[in-house]
Amino acid sequence: MKVTEISVSNWRNLERQKVPLGDKLNIFCGDNAQGKTNLVESVYLCCIGKSPRTDRDKELIRWGKERAYVRVRYTCRFGEGEIAVTLNAGAKKQISVNSVAISRMGELMGYLNCIYFSPEEIRIISESPAERRRFMDVDLCQTDKNYYYSLSRFNKALAQRNNVLKQARTVEEAKETVFVWDEQLAEEGARIIMKRRNFCDKLKNYAAETHSALTEGKERLELDYVTHIKGEGFSELAGNYKNALETNLDKDFNLRYTSAGCQRDDVALKISGIDIRTFGSQGQLRTAALSLKLAELKIFKNLIGEYPILILDDVLSELDAERQRRLLNFDDELQILLTAATDVPQELAGDDCKYFTIRNGVCTPR
Ligand SMILES: Nc1ncnc2c1ncn2[C@@H]1O[C@H](COP(=O)(O)OP(=O)(O)O)[C@@H](O)[C@H]1O
Ligand SMILES: [Mg+2]
Repeated sequence: MKVTEISVSNWRNLERQKVPLGDKLNIFCGDNAQGKTNLVESVYLCCIGKSPRTDRDKELIRWGKERAYVRVRYTCRFGEGEIAVTLNAGAKKQISVNSVAISRMGELMGYLNCIYFSPEEIRIISESPAERRRFMDVDLCQTDKNYYYSLSRFNKALAQRNNVLKQARTVEEAKETVFVWDEQLAEEGARIIMKRRNFCDKLKNYAAETHSALTEGKERLELDYVTHIKGEGFSELAGNYKNALETNLDKDFNLRYTSAGCQRDDVALKISGIDIRTFGSQGQLRTAALSLKLAELKIFKNLIGEYPILILDDVLSELDAERQRRLLNFDDELQILLTAATDVPQELAGDDCKYFTIRNGVCTPR
């Protein structure tokens, strides 16, 4: 799939911009704080329904304005499409797909897909499990609406259960109410674990393959989904999940939050047998992050039959020349939106690329 045009108004520091894109590599150059990330962030919004940088929609609206508007036109295997988002300072955002308003965020999933790679994404590897769960969740939601719905129901139930734990005066009082949420957490949690595990199994193979190519066979990248809930199939997992919640109730009551479950799960990443979070050098972390991103591209291609949009936000300078070349030449079919503070040389970018300059919120083709 390819984005053909981005239009925004009162979106962050971009007042009113309409940017037609090229099919392949699109390079947005400009100094810091000019609006490069802001521009590509609008595409992410149309794919996922929110920003990769904040959960507060209000931050996305140009300061002093009441409303922002983003519209992305694209082509995909089914033809042409258009996603529009209106953000309102005082009300919920409105999203429409091909001019039809959607009522639930889940309905947005799957129309336009993207993979976002920024220096912060290297956190996926080196930082908290929450980052690695988010990484899986973003991809799974985009490729599986039911996953999105499971995850929303799960998060709501978890918040409710935690609320009960905060408000109950005795553990007996908590017990009387949590069982309603336990049931739902166990079922949705089991579904989430199965899907994440399946995703990791696929990712594992692709990531190992890419990592081996990127390191000329010197390093072996391994990854596995890690959960404390035992079991394989749905009923076994859901049963054990429920038991774990029940067993931990006393502890949870003291902690005032839910300690067991897939909100604590993780992805273990190893290079040639060693946990990269503890032993990886900066260079290794970057290469492993790149391997994961390229593996994600392959998963999408395999699942939906075409590549998602690849957004490379300020990440090129983090990589050495050989890895830059591999990334930009990954596949001719792939559309890339790339932001950079320094010029990307033509010999690296190739002939089919389109250059833009971004200055003070204004994007001009070069
Ligand atoms: N809601 C907003 N309204 C106006 N300006 C904003 C808003 N949010 C961020 N900015 C401005 O946008 C600029 C950062 O843009 P960004 O796209 O992150 O820069 P870069 O070109 O370095 O990627 C900053 O100058 C910031 O003050
Ligand atoms: Mg930026």
